[in-house]
Amino acid sequence: MSDTKTDTDFIHVFEEGSDPTRKPLLLLHGTGGDERDLLSLGRTVAPGASLLSPRGKVLEGAAPRFFRRLAEGVFDEVDLRRRTDELADFVLQARERYGLPAPIALGFSNGANIAAAMLLQRPEALAGAALLRAMMPFADAPRGSLNGKPVLILSGALDPIVPAANADGLACQLEDSGAQVEHRVLPAGHGLGQADLGLLRDWLARV
Ligand code: MLT
Repeated sequence: MSDTKTDTDFIHVFEEGSDPTRKPLLLLHGTGGDERDLLSLGRTVAPGASLLSPRGKVLEGAAPRFFRRLAEGVFDEVDLRRRTDELADFVLQARERYGLPAPIALGFSNGANIAAAMLLQRPEALAGAALLRAMMPFADAPRGSLNGKPVLILSGALDPIVPAANADGLACQLEDSGAQVEHRVLPAGHGLGQADLGLLRDWLARV
Protein backbone atom coordinates (compact mmCIF):
# COMPACT_ATOMS: atom_id res chain seq x y z
CA MET A 1 0.00 0.00 0.00
CA SER A 2 1.36 3.45 -0.83
CA ASP A 3 0.51 6.73 0.90
CA THR A 4 -0.02 10.03 -0.85
CA LYS A 5 2.48 12.60 0.50
CA THR A 6 1.46 16.24 0.77
CA ASP A 7 4.55 17.72 2.41
CA THR A 8 6.50 18.75 -0.70
CA ASP A 9 5.84 21.07 -3.54
CA PHE A 10 3.97 18.35 -5.43
CA ILE A 11 1.38 16.01 -3.95
CA HIS A 12 2.92 12.65 -4.78
CA VAL A 13 3.25 8.96 -4.06
CA PHE A 14 6.62 7.29 -3.55
CA GLU A 15 6.78 3.52 -3.56
CA GLU A 16 10.16 2.03 -2.77
CA GLY A 17 11.11 -0.77 -5.15
CA SER A 18 12.51 -4.19 -4.25
CA ASP A 19 14.94 -4.44 -7.20
CA PRO A 20 17.87 -1.99 -6.94
CA THR A 21 19.07 -2.91 -10.46
CA ARG A 22 15.94 -1.28 -11.90
CA LYS A 23 15.94 2.45 -12.60
CA PRO A 24 13.16 4.28 -10.75
CA LEU A 25 10.14 5.40 -12.76
CA LEU A 26 8.72 8.92 -12.69
CA LEU A 27 5.02 8.39 -13.46
CA LEU A 28 3.25 11.32 -15.12
CA HIS A 29 -0.51 11.04 -15.57
CA GLY A 30 -2.76 12.44 -18.30
CA THR A 31 -5.27 15.31 -18.04
CA GLY A 32 -7.79 14.58 -15.27
CA GLY A 33 -5.62 11.92 -13.66
CA ASP A 34 -3.75 12.00 -10.39
CA GLU A 35 -0.77 10.50 -8.57
CA ARG A 36 -2.44 7.08 -8.26
CA ASP A 37 -3.38 6.67 -11.94
CA LEU A 38 -0.25 5.03 -13.31
CA LEU A 39 0.92 3.10 -10.23
CA SER A 40 -0.45 -0.24 -11.40
CA LEU A 41 0.92 0.35 -14.92
CA GLY A 42 4.34 1.06 -13.39
CA ARG A 43 4.20 -2.09 -11.25
CA THR A 44 3.21 -4.15 -14.29
CA VAL A 45 5.80 -2.91 -16.76
CA ALA A 46 8.73 -2.49 -14.35
CA PRO A 47 8.31 -5.02 -11.52
CA GLY A 48 10.47 -4.14 -8.54
CA ALA A 49 11.24 -0.55 -9.64
CA SER A 50 10.80 2.38 -7.27
CA LEU A 51 7.87 4.56 -8.35
CA LEU A 52 7.67 8.35 -7.92
CA SER A 53 4.33 9.74 -9.00
CA PRO A 54 3.44 13.43 -8.64
CA ARG A 55 0.07 15.05 -9.29
CA GLY A 56 0.00 17.89 -11.85
CA LYS A 57 -0.56 21.26 -10.16
CA VAL A 58 -2.53 23.02 -12.90
CA LEU A 59 -6.32 22.66 -12.78
CA GLU A 60 -8.43 22.78 -15.93
CA GLY A 61 -11.84 22.93 -14.29
CA ALA A 62 -11.42 20.08 -11.82
CA ALA A 63 -8.91 18.20 -13.99
CA PRO A 64 -5.26 18.16 -12.86
CA ARG A 65 -2.63 18.72 -15.57
CA PHE A 66 1.09 19.45 -15.64
CA PHE A 67 0.83 22.77 -17.57
CA ARG A 68 -1.75 25.14 -19.01
CA ARG A 69 -3.14 24.86 -22.51
CA LEU A 70 -5.01 27.43 -24.55
CA ALA A 71 -6.97 24.79 -26.53
CA GLU A 72 -6.56 21.08 -27.22
CA GLY A 73 -3.03 20.65 -28.55
CA VAL A 74 -2.27 24.40 -28.21
CA PHE A 75 -0.02 25.00 -25.24
CA ASP A 76 0.73 28.03 -23.08
CA GLU A 77 4.48 27.79 -23.58
CA VAL A 78 5.36 30.41 -20.97
CA ASP A 79 3.55 28.32 -18.37
CA LEU A 80 5.01 25.12 -19.85
CA ARG A 81 8.58 26.38 -19.42
CA ARG A 82 7.91 27.39 -15.79
CA ARG A 83 6.13 24.12 -14.95
CA THR A 84 8.89 22.08 -16.59
CA ASP A 85 11.47 23.72 -14.31
CA GLU A 86 9.23 23.17 -11.27
CA LEU A 87 8.82 19.48 -12.03
CA ALA A 88 12.52 18.98 -12.79
CA ASP A 89 13.36 20.66 -9.44
CA PHE A 90 10.89 18.37 -7.67
CA VAL A 91 12.61 15.34 -9.24
CA LEU A 92 16.02 16.52 -8.04
CA GLN A 93 14.67 17.09 -4.50
CA ALA A 94 12.91 13.70 -4.48
CA ARG A 95 16.12 11.98 -5.59
CA GLU A 96 17.91 13.41 -2.57
CA ARG A 97 15.08 12.70 -0.19
CA TYR A 98 14.57 9.09 -1.29
CA GLY A 99 18.16 8.34 -2.37
CA LEU A 100 17.36 7.67 -6.01
CA PRO A 101 19.37 7.69 -9.23
CA ALA A 102 17.92 9.68 -12.14
CA PRO A 103 14.54 8.19 -13.09
CA ILE A 104 13.05 7.12 -16.39
CA ALA A 105 9.87 9.13 -17.00
CA LEU A 106 6.81 7.13 -17.98
CA GLY A 107 4.22 9.65 -19.13
CA PHE A 108 0.82 9.38 -20.76
CA SER A 109 -0.70 12.17 -22.90
CA ASN A 110 -0.28 15.45 -20.95
CA GLY A 111 2.23 13.63 -18.71
CA ALA A 112 4.15 12.45 -21.78
CA ASN A 113 4.19 16.01 -23.10
CA ILE A 114 5.77 17.44 -19.96
CA ALA A 115 8.23 14.53 -19.91
CA ALA A 116 9.24 15.48 -23.48
CA ALA A 117 9.56 19.12 -22.34
CA MET A 118 11.84 18.03 -19.47
CA LEU A 119 14.05 16.04 -21.84
CA LEU A 120 14.50 19.12 -24.02
CA GLN A 121 14.68 21.83 -21.34
CA ARG A 122 16.13 20.01 -18.30
CA PRO A 123 17.82 16.87 -19.67
CA GLU A 124 19.81 16.33 -16.46
CA ALA A 125 16.59 15.51 -14.56
CA LEU A 126 15.92 12.23 -16.38
CA ALA A 127 17.79 9.08 -17.40
CA GLY A 128 15.37 8.60 -20.30
CA ALA A 129 11.64 8.48 -21.00
CA ALA A 130 8.80 6.39 -22.33
CA LEU A 131 6.33 8.77 -23.96
CA LEU A 132 2.83 7.38 -24.52
CA ARG A 133 0.72 9.35 -27.06
CA ALA A 134 3.06 12.36 -26.84
CA MET A 135 3.21 15.45 -29.03
CA MET A 136 5.73 18.26 -29.52
CA PRO A 137 5.50 20.40 -26.38
CA PHE A 138 7.35 23.42 -27.81
CA ALA A 139 6.87 25.17 -31.15
CA ASP A 140 10.45 26.36 -30.80
CA ALA A 141 12.14 23.64 -28.77
CA PRO A 142 15.20 24.24 -26.61
CA ARG A 143 18.06 22.04 -27.80
CA GLY A 144 18.88 19.78 -24.89
CA SER A 145 21.98 17.69 -24.76
CA LEU A 146 20.63 14.20 -24.38
CA ASN A 147 23.86 12.28 -24.98
CA GLY A 148 22.31 9.00 -26.07
CA LYS A 149 19.59 8.87 -23.38
CA PRO A 150 16.98 6.26 -24.37
CA VAL A 151 13.51 7.44 -25.38
CA LEU A 152 10.59 5.25 -26.42
CA ILE A 153 7.66 6.98 -28.17
CA LEU A 154 4.47 4.93 -28.59
CA SER A 155 1.97 6.65 -30.88
CA GLY A 156 -1.49 5.64 -32.10
CA ALA A 157 -2.08 5.70 -35.88
CA LEU A 158 -5.74 6.56 -35.16
CA ASP A 159 -5.08 9.06 -32.37
CA PRO A 160 -7.56 11.97 -32.76
CA ILE A 161 -5.47 14.24 -30.48
CA VAL A 162 -1.93 13.70 -31.80
CA PRO A 163 -1.45 14.05 -35.59
CA ALA A 164 1.10 11.59 -37.00
CA ALA A 165 3.32 14.43 -38.29
CA ASN A 166 3.44 15.94 -34.81
CA ALA A 167 4.61 12.69 -33.19
CA ASP A 168 7.21 12.30 -35.97
CA GLY A 169 8.35 15.88 -35.31
CA LEU A 170 8.85 15.09 -31.63
CA ALA A 171 10.96 12.04 -32.50
CA CYS A 172 13.12 14.27 -34.77
CA GLN A 173 13.51 17.01 -32.13
CA LEU A 174 14.67 14.46 -29.57
CA GLU A 175 17.01 12.73 -32.01
CA ASP A 176 18.48 16.11 -33.02
CA SER A 177 19.16 16.72 -29.32
CA GLY A 178 21.11 13.46 -29.08
CA ALA A 179 18.53 11.01 -27.69
CA GLN A 180 18.46 7.39 -28.81
CA VAL A 181 14.85 7.29 -29.96
CA GLU A 182 12.69 4.27 -30.70
CA HIS A 183 9.37 5.42 -32.21
CA ARG A 184 6.62 2.83 -32.71
CA VAL A 185 3.24 3.60 -34.25
CA LEU A 186 0.50 1.18 -33.14
CA PRO A 187 -2.90 0.54 -34.74
CA ALA A 188 -4.54 2.37 -31.82
CA GLY A 189 -6.19 5.61 -30.76
CA HIS A 190 -5.25 7.86 -27.82
CA GLY A 191 -5.97 5.11 -25.28
CA LEU A 192 -3.46 2.44 -24.29
CA GLY A 193 -3.79 -1.27 -25.05
CA GLN A 194 -2.00 -4.58 -24.53
CA ALA A 195 0.48 -3.85 -27.34
CA ASP A 196 1.68 -0.75 -25.46
CA LEU A 197 2.21 -2.78 -22.30
CA GLY A 198 4.28 -5.46 -24.06
CA LEU A 199 6.52 -2.92 -25.83
CA LEU A 200 6.94 -0.90 -22.66
CA ARG A 201 7.86 -3.91 -20.55
CA ASP A 202 10.47 -5.08 -23.08
CA TRP A 203 11.96 -1.61 -23.53
CA LEU A 204 12.15 -0.95 -19.77
CA ALA A 205 13.92 -4.29 -19.24
CA ARG A 206 16.61 -3.13 -21.71
CA VAL A 207 17.32 0.43 -20.43
C1 MLT B 1 -2.14 18.09 -23.73
O1 MLT B 1 -2.92 19.00 -23.47
O2 MLT B 1 -1.09 17.89 -23.14
C2 MLT B 1 -2.53 17.20 -24.86
O3 MLT B 1 -3.52 17.82 -25.63
C3 MLT B 1 -2.99 15.88 -24.38
C4 MLT B 1 -4.16 16.00 -23.46
O4 MLT B 1 -3.96 16.19 -22.28
O5 MLT B 1 -5.31 15.89 -23.91
